[in-house]
Amino acid sequence: MALLEIQNVTRRFGDFTAVDNVSIGIEAGEFFTLLGPSGCGKTTLLRMIAGFDLPDGGRILLKGEDLVDRPPERRPMRMVFQSYALFPHMTVEGNVAFPLQMAKTPASEISAKVEAALEDVRLTGFDKRYPHELSGGQRQRVAIGRALVTHPSVLLLDEPLAALDAKLREEMQIELINLQKEVGITFVYVTHDQTEALALSHRIAVMNKGRIEQLDVPSKIYGFPKTRFVADFIGHINLLSGSVSERQGGVITLAVEGLGPVRVTSASPISVGGAGTIALRPEKIRIQSSAPTDSPDNHYRGTVGDLLYMGDVTVYKVSIPGGTRIEALLANSQSGRAKFFEIGDAVEVSWPVDAGHLIEE
Ligand SMILES: Nc1ncnc2c1ncn2[C@@H]1O[C@H](COP(=O)(O)OP(=O)(O)OP(=O)(O)O)[C@@H](O)[C@H]1O
Ligand SMILES: [Mg+2]
Repeated sequence: MALLEIQNVTRRFGDFTAVDNVSIGIEAGEFFTLLGPSGCGKTTLLRMIAGFDLPDGGRILLKGEDLVDRPPERRPMRMVFQSYALFPHMTVEGNVAFPLQMAKTPASEISAKVEAALEDVRLTGFDKRYPHELSGGQRQRVAIGRALVTHPSVLLLDEPLAALDAKLREEMQIELINLQKEVGITFVYVTHDQTEALALSHRIAVMNKGRIEQLDVPSKIYGFPKTRFVADFIGHINLLSGSVSERQGGVITLAVEGLGPVRVTSASPISVGGAGTIALRPEKIRIQSSAPTDSPDNHYRGTVGDLLYMGDVTVYKVSIPGGTRIEALLANSQSGRAKFFEIGDAVEVSWPVDAGHLIEE
């Protein structure tokens, strides 16, 4: 049995179902992420794990024990909020010591524990400062230190980096990965940022409208999305829908309106006539002025409709005469090379049959 078992948990507000029959097993030492758009039920689920709210149906177990009768302070869990929630009139030391005082830890042990927690979050020497004397990143580290100081079994983090700017957020992501490895505590992390989820997590549950659409390791979530929603939510993707016109060996041909036949390798048992969508990442697509016509790859002629220069890469939106637009991404790795094509250029887009991934509908 997993450390934390969420079994068929449902939460309704009036006749609206915020969390809909969710089941997850989270292992000890895991960095587990709940990822989904605003309003999909992430915070509601986290609050039930913490004990701030109770499910209308289902059970939450820790080490096999049902937590229903345990109030938040009697659960070996701590929550870290987006807003830090530090006490402004207390020093860093006072903030971090607070949960220990609440737990009636002997005074003689408190300072060593506080010092160790501050070392974990790389804030040694900051103990006498007040929250207003710290940067946003440092405040969030105090909040995490305060959560870790009682050595909980599970740390619940609700969008802890959302208030930070992009560069600081990336630094903090690396710190969180290292911290989690060091302390070995199970992290349940909530975010609506897919790159953050992919970077941090051992496993991700992608949520949509209160339900889990896919639960998997990051590379599977990114490379093999199970549903259209997951494919679309996790980064940029081309979604080519149609019906199966042929199956041969492990290769399926999909008749895509506005594009033509597209071939894709797939182990799916989908039969001829069935509806499917090919999910294809822009970085898997080649874009050239002309491609060899005898190649077994999928290839289509079109014109560059739009382009977006992003420094390291350029995104090209290629219009195919039938009406489809294909998004391709090219690395600008050659020095001094800003872009390879201009708007209006005739180009050929192509991709191997194993570059895409078939989603059955
Ligand atoms: N106490 C409540 N009463 C009524 N509706 C609620 C309550 N709490 C949450 N909801 C609703 O439940 C849904 C899920 O809310 P939740 O806060 O869990 O979303 P979220 O995934 O955390 O979103 P965000 O990314 O914006 O924080 C929302 O539609 C919200 O309005
Ligand atoms: Mg939320």
